[in-house]
Amino acid sequence: MSVNLFNYKFKILEVGDKYSFDCGDPDLTEFFLNDAIPHKRELIGVTYFFYDESRKQAISFFTVSNDAVRTDSFKDELPEGKRYSFYPAVKIGRFGVNKEFQGQGVGTQMMGYIKWFFVSTNKTGCRFLTVDAYNKPEILDFYSKKNGFKFLSEKDANKQTRTMKYNLKLYSNELQMDSYANR
Ligand SMILES: CC(C)(COP(=O)(O)OP(=O)(O)OC[C@H]1O[C@@H](n2cnc3c(N)ncnc32)[C@H](O)[C@@H]1OP(=O)(O)O)[C@@H](O)C(=O)NCCC(=O)NCCS
Repeated sequence: MSVNLFNYKFKILEVGDKYSFDCGDPDLTEFFLNDAIPHKRELIGVTYFFYDESRKQAISFFTVSNDAVRTDSFKDELPEGKRYSFYPAVKIGRFGVNKEFQGQGVGTQMMGYIKWFFVSTNKTGCRFLTVDAYNKPEILDFYSKKNGFKFLSEKDANKQTRTMKYNLKLYSNELQMDSYANR
């Protein structure tokens, strides 16, 4: 069964918002319910979420912060010509789907939405999405096989989390191809 995320509303999390949420990971659930607003106040992370207003329930959320990626470990993935040592990025610092909605394509639709968000409505240049993914096969598969992320390096192969990146140029090229196709 699949759920259409776009049947739900989307907003930035604000002071006073009260929505139920449980993604099965106590730290991430706690973050959304109690820590996201202090992070926003301290200017270290902004949280956005899809929600069902009638049930006062959050469907899925993500928290993002500015980031940069050092390119020396993957120069061959970048075009010839002028290359920078660092590229601008946005880090998906927290991400979760309500338990009730997991395994129904919501997380993958969220990833598509985040790609679109930072290519289409971003106020600054942003070339990569990054994430410190839990080092568990099902989570790594979610980011790599389902959503096109790659490991930044092999140095963290045995750590609790692995840094992964997605090159937004791939997505913006796809969008341009779509708009040509629709002319
Ligand atoms: C990981 C997570 C965001 C995936 O969202 P989702 O809506 O379940 O993902 P989708 O339905 O788009 O894709 C499902 C794929 O994700 C992976 N997956 C990881 N955790 C899963 C879970 N609890 N349930 C179902 N699929 C999960 C599987 O590879 C699955 O592949 P399959 O469909 O071939 O079996 C979500 O399960 C979640 O919020 N988990 C708890 C919080 C968490 O671990 N966040 C990531 C921190 S790095």
